[in-house]
Amino acid sequence: MPPEKAHYFATDCLSFFSKIPGLPALMKGMFELKDPRLERKLFGLTFKNPVGLAAGFDKDARWYNELAHLGFGFIEIGTLTPKAQIGNAKPRLFRITEDNGLINRMGFNNLGAEDAIARLKNKKTDIIIGGNIGKNTATANEDALADYLFNFNTLHDYVDYFVVNVSCPNVKDLTKLQDTPFLLNLLGQLKEINKTKEKPKPILLKIAPDLNSSQLDEVIAIVAQTKIDGIIAANTTTSREHLKTDEQTIARIGNGGLSGKPVAKKATEVIKYLSEKSNKAFPIIGVGGIHSAEDAIEKLDAGADLVQVYTGFIYEGPALIKAINKKIIERYA
Ligand SMILES: Cc1cc2nc3c(=O)[nH]c(=O)nc-3n(C[C@H](O)[C@H](O)[C@H](O)COP(=O)(O)O)c2cc1C
Repeated sequence: MPPEKAHYFATDCLSFFSKIPGLPALMKGMFELKDPRLERKLFGLTFKNPVGLAAGFDKDARWYNELAHLGFGFIEIGTLTPKAQIGNAKPRLFRITEDNGLINRMGFNNLGAEDAIARLKNKKTDIIIGGNIGKNTATANEDALADYLFNFNTLHDYVDYFVVNVSCPNVKDLTKLQDTPFLLNLLGQLKEINKTKEKPKPILLKIAPDLNSSQLDEVIAIVAQTKIDGIIAANTTTSREHLKTDEQTIARIGNGGLSGKPVAKKATEVIKYLSEKSNKAFPIIGVGGIHSAEDAIEKLDAGADLVQVYTGFIYEGPALIKAINKKIIERYA
């Protein structure tokens, strides 16, 4: 089955089975690991375990209630944009199985931030929900600020933390918004809006794994100056280095962000750099190529406080989450 179709088929199956009385409890019994030693307190939130589902899987907040049965400690919805958009032309999601990776150029296909509210209001789980926000493709970078502010205001009452996504390689020129003056202005304004709200929400910035050390130094300075709550490292990479998949296949697939095993090393290096250089000044959520419990430990040892999975969840299935949590107890308890 083509990968995008398989995604909808699998999530629809999950929704269907979740409606059968008794099955959600059975799924929880199979996949969830409940243990107080897994609990993590970060930026004012208590995560029941440190393993989350990364952004992009449940962009429109359609399946988070059902996904919560699979043992995650948190689920990040989005990327949501102000207006609904269809994203890039299909096919736009490709498996590269030899490398345990995916290449995607989805392009922020989503139904829009306002549309997600009804489903977020229908929350039937106590799981922590992150809201990942971006700009519409049709919005010029000069006007991007307004898109982020709109999403932040729209979703403020319905998510537990926010992620500013300026690192997706599949929306033209989006990664240029990783530029320091733009981020200082945007994050500063989000912090100001937060102050006007009854319950301020933690704000994190999601960065690309392709930033060099001087750009990472700027990220550290931005966090220090704006006092945002943390960093998510990292998004997909534009690099195609060290792949086993033959060059013609890669060329045929074309543009897109590469995820899974091939991005693991880069993401870990970014986490390690940020953690060491900042002297652990802020929380880091580590993501990129976690396909086993050992891969997750590598991210935590590099300085991550929480981890997220996406491609590893597709390849390995939901048993991965419990396996990671089990290993975390063995290793750190
Ligand atoms: C099909 C697909 C869609 C994605 N969509 C988003 C997105 O909308 N927003 C975002 O911040 N990251 C998105 N990501 C990136 C993931 O959240 C994650 O950062 C990246 O894939 C690295 O983790 P992984 O190797 O575990 O997949 C997407 C990844 C994939 C594979």
